[in-house]
Amino acid sequence: MGGRRLDDKVALVTGGSRGIGRAIAERLGREGAVVAVAFARDQAAADEVVQTIGKDGGRAFAIRAELGRHGDAAALWAAFDAQTQRHSLRAGVDIIVNNAGIGRSSDLASLTEEEFDEVFAVNVRAPFFILQQGLSRLRDGGRIINISSGAARLAMPEIIAYSSTKGALDTFTLNLAKQLGPRGITANSVAPGIVDTDVNAGWLRGNAEAEAHAASLAALGRVGQPEDIADIVAFLASGEARWVTGRVIDATGGAGL
Ligand SMILES: NC(=O)c1ccc[n+]([C@@H]2O[C@H](COP(=O)([O-])OP(=O)(O)OC[C@H]3O[C@@H](n4cnc5c(N)ncnc54)[C@H](OP(=O)(O)O)[C@@H]3O)[C@@H](O)[C@H]2O)c1
Repeated sequence: MGGRRLDDKVALVTGGSRGIGRAIAERLGREGAVVAVAFARDQAAADEVVQTIGKDGGRAFAIRAELGRHGDAAALWAAFDAQTQRHSLRAGVDIIVNNAGIGRSSDLASLTEEEFDEVFAVNVRAPFFILQQGLSRLRDGGRIINISSGAARLAMPEIIAYSSTKGALDTFTLNLAKQLGPRGITANSVAPGIVDTDVNAGWLRGNAEAEAHAASLAALGRVGQPEDIADIVAFLASGEARWVTGRVIDATGGAGL
């Protein structure tokens, strides 16, 4: 199969086993990239993503790496290197998607120090060191895409620590873009609004009132789907987005306009 936008590219997608990351992994696979589907716990879900990409004519492999602890980035890259070698791919990576993330729904008054450390460790420290250790692996002309959140732009004190992690991630993106521009590498954030994934299932799925409220927050009048985000990531990963860097691409369907 030839002529796809990402033929000959290798992509790493953290949190590729479920939700938005799954949609991104499958989409990049359909575009021709070989996809490393990183996950923490749900091996069955990661295997399913790998199989789906295979059925669609692509190539993928799963790597386990729990993020949010010291040594996580080194473990992730060791697993990545071992698998690329096993699959006879040339060493290195073209597209890094930092998607894995967790939320904490506590406000300033109730957040514990442990919760603060955990959410920053997964959402900020992990991408930071994945990039630090990925720099020697990321090929010139490559792509960095960090999955942020509309919450970095819209004040939501009830999730203040989570929002703050995404603000930090956006600042990280900005600096990566400046530093890596001379190598033709772009770095951008994509900021979704409310998306129908497991993380929101408890309050959103099957609750017509909650869904109507969530839909009303977007100018486009519906809840986001993982594919809405994956399509934007696929564009940013492609050659067509070569002149876009250092930006936060809003993917909220027009929230807070
Ligand atoms: N859903 C939304 O409404 C929304 C809105 C704005 C931004 N976002 C952002 O979009 C990204 C994806 O969210 P989602 O809703 O798709 O999440 P999700 O459905 O909960 O899926 C989370 C993914 O991240 C992985 N993951 C979670 N904790 C991890 C850890 N400690 N180490 C490694 N991997 C870990 C999970 O792997 P396992 O399956 O192995 O657990 C899973 O693949 C996050 O960065 C989130 O902040 C989401």
